[in-house]
Amino acid sequence: MSSASERREELKAVFHQSQGCVKCPQLAAGRTTVVFGSGHADADLMFVGEAPGANEDKQGVPFVGQAGRLLDTLLGEIGMTRGDVFVVNVLKCRPPGNRDPLPQEIDNCQDYLFRQLELIEPKVVCTLGNFATKLLRADPTGITRLHGRAEERLIGPRRVRLYPIYHPAAALYTPSMLEILRTDFHRLPALLALPAPEQPEPEPVVVEEPEPEPVIPEPELIYEQQLGLF
Ligand code: URA
Repeated sequence: MSSASERREELKAVFHQSQGCVKCPQLAAGRTTVVFGSGHADADLMFVGEAPGANEDKQGVPFVGQAGRLLDTLLGEIGMTRGDVFVVNVLKCRPPGNRDPLPQEIDNCQDYLFRQLELIEPKVVCTLGNFATKLLRADPTGITRLHGRAEERLIGPRRVRLYPIYHPAAALYTPSMLEILRTDFHRLPALLALPAPEQPEPEPVVVEEPEPEPVIPEPELIYEQQLGLF
């Protein structure tokens, strides 16, 4: 198991690697920045949104627009700040016109998210809306059915409490949804107070035995064998 400072250094390396990413040519051509994610590198709570919008693309930081302000307000209501958590998106680059992420783009980008989860080691992963929830549950069930229900899930090598809630952008203009989001959000401190999910045994490191060198008999010996001279 790596130390917090080793994980932090590796997270920085993944950040630098992501900055030159061209796996999605359309997104790479249209972006101003790659919005890697921000917050506490060793946070117990990680939020996973959808994709950067125009403000995030300009500033290089997730959730800095209106939805971000709502996220900050809700965090404040539970006594937390952005500095206590880590915030990322499923896509690190802004889709043109804020269209939905395409399946191929999610596929191209997901390794960054899985690495972030592995290196930050959060206890609770709070998915905001459908895209993050479907990706991290590897299941098409939507947020309307799942919001507010925490479940233990194995994501890559780590077991986490996955907690889907509505996306703040969806709640901005719908007061009834905002109330549900707020109720769900206020359960986060209780989830964080639970013991961290037990981690699976690390995969045993299989040390491959080198193939034994084939024994090539001396030429004379072959000759002798053929002659039956033993
Ligand atoms: N801003 C983000 O960074 N992500 C979203 O999903 C929405 C707004």
